[in-house]
Amino acid sequence: MLQTHPTTTEWITEEIASGIQILTLNRPEKKNAMTVDMYQALSDALHRAELDDTVQVSILTGKGPDFSAGNDINEFLEIANAPEKMASIMSFLQAITTYKKPLFAAVEGRAVGVAATILLHCDMVFTARDTQLIFPFVQLGLVPEAASSYLLPKLVGHQKAFEILMLGDPVLAQEAQQLGLVNHLCESGETLHLAQTYAERLATLPNEAVMLSKELLKCRTLDDIQMALMREGRIFKDRLKSPEAKSKFEHFLNR
Ligand code: COA
Repeated sequence: MLQTHPTTTEWITEEIASGIQILTLNRPEKKNAMTVDMYQALSDALHRAELDDTVQVSILTGKGPDFSAGNDINEFLEIANAPEKMASIMSFLQAITTYKKPLFAAVEGRAVGVAATILLHCDMVFTARDTQLIFPFVQLGLVPEAASSYLLPKLVGHQKAFEILMLGDPVLAQEAQQLGLVNHLCESGETLHLAQTYAERLATLPNEAVMLSKELLKCRTLDDIQMALMREGRIFKDRLKSPEAKSKFEHFLNR
């Protein structure tokens, strides 16, 4: 039975059906750019799902043609002056890093910034054939976040990670799949359906065995991920206030 839960912001919707929680970034008019309230609603929903025996798998997706344009750039400017607002972002990153149940992503169109780096934490990633993963941190005067400075070189090797993170050229879906960042590709508009098909298969497996196996797969890297989050977080916070980053944010907002 489909249950629809209200979240603390209308820009995140939560539905649960047949053991699958679907969390949708629902701000298509702004390319699902992520606000502090959206991070908070996502981490609250993941915490609830972790305690809810009826949820076996969570899927993160976005409404509209693009998964997400990453962090809301207006909020980057606000956070630069009020760094305590980073708390909700950090709490969301903790929630996906430590989430005990399988976490999938169904990614249409573009996934930019944090919307690309969180995919590195997901257990299965499904994208459209025309999806692009874009990591524009250095171009914006920032540094990589969400432990991507650790996870990306670990997954694809230093040289490839360096190129992706420094130059910010879009990683096209097919290359992302070859690099091991994406499990399966499909036609545009079908990623959620494909992710649900795999989630349904997982939901029929013995739940405890699934969670214990995920823990075994992830436990060796957890300390390194936490270290990377802390190290990046310190530098990222400072970079938000830097003249380099501020001028890039203003340039985007005044286009
Ligand atoms: N923060 C705030 N608003 C954003 C946003 C973001 N990250 N990304 C897009 N938007 C807004 C745009 O300002 C625009 O708002 P408007 O209609 O009120 O002018 C709306 O979303 C649509 O975006 P637009 O740029 O017109 O769409 P597009 O299809 O031409 O381009 C992107 C899509 C994602 C390539 C482009 O919006 C972009 O580069 N966004 C910034 C991505 C980014 O740098 N994120 C931070 C990463 S650390």
